[in-house]
Amino acid sequence: MSSDKFLDKKELKRLDQELQKMIGRVGTDRKTQDEVFDKSTLLALEKLISDRVIDILDFPISTGKEGNVFRGVTPDKKLVAVKIYRTNTATFKHISEYIIGDPRFNSIGKSKRALIFAWTKKEFKNLERLARINVKAPKPIIFIKNVLVMEYIGDSERPAPLMKDVKLKNPKEIFETLIDYVSKMYKKADLVHSDISAFNILMFEDKPYVIDLGQGVLIGHPNALGYLKRDIHNLVSYFNKFGIRADENKIFDKITKKK
Ligand SMILES: Nc1ncnc2c1ncn2[C@@H]1O[C@H](COP(=O)(O)OP(=O)(O)OP(=O)(O)O)[C@@H](O)[C@H]1O
Ligand SMILES: [Mg+2]
Repeated sequence: MSSDKFLDKKELKRLDQELQKMIGRVGTDRKTQDEVFDKSTLLALEKLISDRVIDILDFPISTGKEGNVFRGVTPDKKLVAVKIYRTNTATFKHISEYIIGDPRFNSIGKSKRALIFAWTKKEFKNLERLARINVKAPKPIIFIKNVLVMEYIGDSERPAPLMKDVKLKNPKEIFETLIDYVSKMYKKADLVHSDISAFNILMFEDKPYVIDLGQGVLIGHPNALGYLKRDIHNLVSYFNKFGIRADENKIFDKITKKK
């Protein structure tokens, strides 16, 4: 049983007030705040503050179906990205497909909250794997429950844009880098991203960074090869628009041939 069950109303109100202060400039309305910042999120954020991981969340970078990403500032004024999965979201049905079958998450509970906490942990663990193999992605810092803190990709002015919104200077080079990332993930980290697209790649200083690793599965997952095929397909068809021709099957065979 989680200890937050014992929080009384007064305590919650105090937490909420603290959070209101902390999120200061967050440009969302009260309804969105209520949806994102439920009790467990408030507790997780409070712990991050008392552990001096973050000082404030200064503004939302993205508001999505399943969660929100905020820019956060650490006590020594460094920027971080704080991804908060919504625990009360109704759009999380598909996630069990990517958790069940991953040997790291065999024994999680069946509740939606447990699934979402496991999902957050999975994204963190996957980012750790990427950090070890030199594939550009945000470095994971810490996770608590449904809140994940990671390296912020961008500069002080603005977060790095998504690849879909960037006019690429050298698409061929970017394509080759991304195929190399997919290959390294598979061969060196036993990992398949499973949701690679121009929506989940940030461009920073002309280099691609992969993000959104929650769906990433280990190669032992029964559908890992299917997801790998789809990732390669997504990249090949996206770069087709720039006149780059590549054979998906050949790439797949090359990546999956015996290590
Ligand atoms: N580390 C980061 N640094 C800067 N921006 C980030 C970072 N991580 C995520 N973002 C921004 O937040 C957005 C959403 O992140 P992500 O893709 O991980 O979540 P998501 O679950 O796909 O959310 P959505 O439901 O909006 O698709 C990204 O498109 C990107 O703009
Ligand atoms: Mg995404």
